[in-house]
Amino acid sequence: MSTGVHVTQTSHLRCNRYRTCVLSCVPGRGNMFPPDFAWGAATAAHQIEGGWQADGKGPSIWDTFCHQEKGRVFGEQNGDVSCNSYELWEKDLECIQQLGLTHYRLSLSWARLLPDGTTRHVNQKGVQYYNKVIDDLLSCNVSPMITLYHFDLPQALQDQGGWKSQEIVPLFDSYARFCFQTFGDRVKLWITINEPYVCAKLGHEDGIHAPGLKEAGISAYLVGHNMLRAHATAWHSYDSFYRPKQKGAVSLAINSDWFEPLDPGCKEDIAATERDLAFTLGWFAWPVFVTGDYPETMRSAIDSQSEKLGYGGSSRLPSFSKDDPTVLGTADFFALNYYTSRKVKPGGDSGQMLGIKSDRNAEEVLDPSWPISGVSWLAVVPSGLRKLLKYIKDTLNNPAVYITENGFSQVGPLQMEDVERCEFYKDTIFEVGKAIEEDGVDVRGYFAWSLLDNFEWADGFSVRFGLFHVDFSDAKRSRTIYRSGQEYAKTIVKYKRAICVQ
Ligand code: BGC
Repeated sequence: MSTGVHVTQTSHLRCNRYRTCVLSCVPGRGNMFPPDFAWGAATAAHQIEGGWQADGKGPSIWDTFCHQEKGRVFGEQNGDVSCNSYELWEKDLECIQQLGLTHYRLSLSWARLLPDGTTRHVNQKGVQYYNKVIDDLLSCNVSPMITLYHFDLPQALQDQGGWKSQEIVPLFDSYARFCFQTFGDRVKLWITINEPYVCAKLGHEDGIHAPGLKEAGISAYLVGHNMLRAHATAWHSYDSFYRPKQKGAVSLAINSDWFEPLDPGCKEDIAATERDLAFTLGWFAWPVFVTGDYPETMRSAIDSQSEKLGYGGSSRLPSFSKDDPTVLGTADFFALNYYTSRKVKPGGDSGQMLGIKSDRNAEEVLDPSWPISGVSWLAVVPSGLRKLLKYIKDTLNNPAVYITENGFSQVGPLQMEDVERCEFYKDTIFEVGKAIEEDGVDVRGYFAWSLLDNFEWADGFSVRFGLFHVDFSDAKRSRTIYRSGQEYAKTIVKYKRAICVQ
């Protein structure tokens, strides 16, 4: 694969034959990746581990969601076995090594460590499993980035109100402290919560993710609020009790598309785009990186819609009180999950009903020139990532950024020679290089989603994001590298090292 940039092998790089050396950056070539840039891939516990009841693991809301009712997940599939990484971790490690990753992002299953969600009962088998994963990674020179929460709340905590209840805040904090205490001597990069937007909206408003609630216009804002409180509390715990010794960094992973006005000359489209950004990126990024509170655009849109629909009572978007932990400043870097872009004009779902879509009054449109990758929502727009990175730099106080997820899906007939995905990674990484080199964005790492084909939530196994194909019909769950995996491995080598001939 051509990555669009060239490794220079000039005579001033005086390397010994076959010696590995770090390349100097060449301005104007889009290869300004710092020598310590994190080249990674990401997964999540529920999507790969299987072993849903193994060795004392408690059920999570995703186990319940899949088992309880038909019609929620493609083909009535579930994550009971999935890639079986709980038993086949060594195979994953081989994949990680084959790619030459410097970093691997994984999530911990809360219910595997604490089956009822509380530290009253610790499942030592779960602790052993993650200790082995972390130790194995480090012994192969791969740094773990660990997500504490990637959509899979212990069912026992859902039964007590889940993320809608304020009680979740101290419970999450205890879990986070337990993880910092147990694994923090070796883990230096932490994500508290993955994509609060998705948990809040898809899980509590649209009902298409666990816990499957359809409580439009109210619960998602409450869930988002409790997630911010839980994140901030855990960050403060790390900052006070663990950082001095462990010296790591903690953030939350925020998903956002890049949004542009459908007609750049139309002021209604521009305003709708600002609202869309505020309701997606801003919802979680403004409180943490800018003001300690929600974007004003978001609050006023929700309040005016409430008034229009005669919704009485207090604002549906909660406010931070003096009893809440300080949210502003509770991220040591920006963790960005970027997949796609949208053009925007005014227009909600119906405008007549309570709901995030009608609150934000923004209709998202696909540009017909954008190719679609597998799933219908995933328009391929690598340049949108560069624009979003620049926007983050300019509006969120120029944070250090890790791109913690980005990927391309396959649906339908299996293609091991996945040339479109190869192109996608090539183009995207080139855009990231330009963001660093030309826009001065402080990007520290890039994690492809995903290491393996896996359980893609409501789409089950019908959507494949892996750099490795997993044969789900084979009891051994054999893993086979795609062409895109091979090319990603070459890209990493190309950017990180040069085998120089004297
Ligand atoms: C999630 C992943 C998911 C990916 C692709 C992200 O929203 O964090 O768990 O598999 O998108 O849909």
